[in-house]
Amino acid sequence: MNKKLAIIILSAGKSTRMKSTLPKVLHKICGKSMLSYVIDLARSLSPKRIVAVLGRKHELVKKEIPVSVKVVLQRRLIGTADAVRTGLAGLKGFKGTVLILYGDVPLLKKDTVTKLFKHHIENKADATLLSAQLKKPKGYGRILRDKYFSICGIAEEKDADEFDKDIKEINTGIMCFNKASLDGALGKVRADNEKKEFYLTDIIKILYRQGKLIEGVKVEDNLEAIGINSRVELASVISIMQSRINKGLMLSGVSIVDPKSTFISYGTRIGKDSVIYPFTVIESDVKIGKRCSIGPFAHLREGARILDDVTLGNFLEITRAKIGRNTFAKHFCYIADSRIGNSVNIGAGAITANFDGSKKHHTVIKDKALIGSDTIMVAPVKIGRSSKTGAGSVIIKDVPDRKTAVGVPARILKNKG
Ligand code: UD1
Ligand code: MG
Repeated sequence: MNKKLAIIILSAGKSTRMKSTLPKVLHKICGKSMLSYVIDLARSLSPKRIVAVLGRKHELVKKEIPVSVKVVLQRRLIGTADAVRTGLAGLKGFKGTVLILYGDVPLLKKDTVTKLFKHHIENKADATLLSAQLKKPKGYGRILRDKYFSICGIAEEKDADEFDKDIKEINTGIMCFNKASLDGALGKVRADNEKKEFYLTDIIKILYRQGKLIEGVKVEDNLEAIGINSRVELASVISIMQSRINKGLMLSGVSIVDPKSTFISYGTRIGKDSVIYPFTVIESDVKIGKRCSIGPFAHLREGARILDDVTLGNFLEITRAKIGRNTFAKHFCYIADSRIGNSVNIGAGAITANFDGSKKHHTVIKDKALIGSDTIMVAPVKIGRSSKTGAGSVIIKDVPDRKTAVGVPARILKNKG
């Protein structure tokens, strides 16, 4: 644990530009909320304390926050400086470095923040900010430097003049402060700007005037600095995160035929030598074993557990279902609330009818069963080991082991299956 570090995560904002009833930080990026990425980053740094500043719809946001993170409420959303002041109330008695993270900057990596923190400590700075050099800096605060190239302030887009707007170095929002210096400067922030808000960025100018040491570290990969304010930025961040996830999987031994058209949730585990074909969507809480073949156009949803050597072909949806080893379902299927054994062959168009209008029911298919094309299994129902179902059969009663069931509704044939 780093006893000299505390982190404040700002996530109380009004999210005006998202035009959403859902608080901005709860919007999902590859199956995980924007805020969770930032919280995970904060936890990975093992600080003494983490404080999340919440505001709008805080009851909803709170549900995303682990108990180890202290929550404080910003009553009136009047700017980032006020949010930090509110956050400091959760850090009484703490001495050391306060790191500010933004709930809407989720691509930031641990290495980058560690570099920022190290630089701050080694230089004994009062404030160290993370900046980025952007070709299109519009919308971000611009870093102002004096004639000695020392950082002396930040101009917010709305308050920037034509000269400031030409500056390409921007404020990512991520900053380290010496706590005592931050305390000393916060009270001096005024809402004398276009938005009539208390800007955290004004602290830099205040510290500079006090003769304090302000340092800057540039982020190496600009993409890490993207702050999400609208759904347009949300979409670009999703696509960047998706390529990170896909790259990670490929480097771990999974083949993804076309990473650009393959959507896999954060944290999905896929075994070595599995191949994922294009237009496959894998939602959260899915596990896939080794040497599987998935897609094209497969949709795996929460609770799908796919064991080794399974083939799931095109146009199928699987949710809350375990698929045993060496099982095939190659075309057009819906398998839900099911337990499918090993070496089962599921024909084209087979469906587990799991929902009776009010409740969901289970289907069990035992090892080596052969499910004929267009079979409808009306759950709850069991198909026995090495049994068969005829094409187009509607199974409403359990089929014993090694039997064949045919027809609508299906009857069990007397002979061995
Ligand atoms: C902010 C910075 C800007 C920087 C950009 C980087 C300020 C004044 N400006 O602008 O220099 O380039 O981020 O993305 O800081 N929040 C609160 N309470 C509030 C207001 C905001 O908690 O009263 C939170 C928001 O939820 C968000 C973060 O602070 O997570 C930043 O606020 P936002 O309104 O997005 O600021 P930007 O305009 O993006
Ligand atoms: Mg923002």
